[in-house]
Amino acid sequence: MKHVIGMKEMSKQQIESLLARAAEWAKRPKAQADTLSGRFVANLFFEASTRTRFSFEVAQKRLGAHVLNFTAEASSTTKGETIYDTLRTLEAMGVETAVIRTSQNGLLEDLVGRVGLHLVNAGDGTNEHPTQCLLDLLTMKQHFGKIAGLRVAIIGDLRHSRVLGSHLHALPKLGAELVLAGPPGMMRRAEEIPAGVSVVDIDEAVRTADVVMMLRVQLERHAEAVFDSAESYHQMYGLTLERARAMKPGAVIMHPAPVNRGVEIHTDLVECEKSLIFTQVANGVAVRMAVLEQIMEGRESKWESSLVTVNG
Ligand code: CP
Repeated sequence: MKHVIGMKEMSKQQIESLLARAAEWAKRPKAQADTLSGRFVANLFFEASTRTRFSFEVAQKRLGAHVLNFTAEASSTTKGETIYDTLRTLEAMGVETAVIRTSQNGLLEDLVGRVGLHLVNAGDGTNEHPTQCLLDLLTMKQHFGKIAGLRVAIIGDLRHSRVLGSHLHALPKLGAELVLAGPPGMMRRAEEIPAGVSVVDIDEAVRTADVVMMLRVQLERHAEAVFDSAESYHQMYGLTLERARAMKPGAVIMHPAPVNRGVEIHTDLVECEKSLIFTQVANGVAVRMAVLEQIMEGRESKWESSLVTVNG
């Protein structure tokens, strides 16, 4: 694996290998390594980010890399330079890996083979967010000990969610049952929903799932107002306290975040006992370390003996 573009391209075996390695890092939250010592990686975020951007940077630094953070507004992209030319420029300087967040669906797929850098998709438009998907999978695996057989409900702004875009490929590949619920105006097109994935009403989704994953309403991607008020959305499509009480015993709440408290999820549920939301954030670092090792070092075949911990 030279790039991480999407879960669509990733095999079950590749996903499981990444999760196994990430689980090792998750058990050692302070461990550092010299795996990427002296090597340059760049983070290019053309859309806002807190979790993905900083967890990549933490992961890169824990592996010993030199990290370049590209600020789009201060770069020559404001003079019309393309992302292709920007990447070729970084490549010429000796940068080996580019982590890219963009609003353009499929941009990274177009760049593979045209530049010599390793490419990592940190979220492309409404298409995919593979490292978020991997950290969600790691969180489920840690909690339940398995992914196969879990019933996962993904609820909310389905149309704009690149996290859902990745889970539509990954969860069925790993043997989980995926159900979707959300407002009609935020639904995916029928042709985007694979066979075996069902659309149900929100109360059924919440009541029957092992994992209730709420999605943020992505107001920045909606052309016009999509609901009358935050409160009306919360009552109709949000995880209210009442709905949460109807969850199965042992079921958990997840959310890729950022969270709109009081809109898609009641504020008291964000940090409640059932919530794994901050565990997801912690796992983001572990997953991104595993991804960087894999694409830059090809660790897959010798992972058992590959911990090069220098600290912790
Ligand atoms: N989940 C996620 O992608 O968060 P950020 O937008 O803060 O990176």
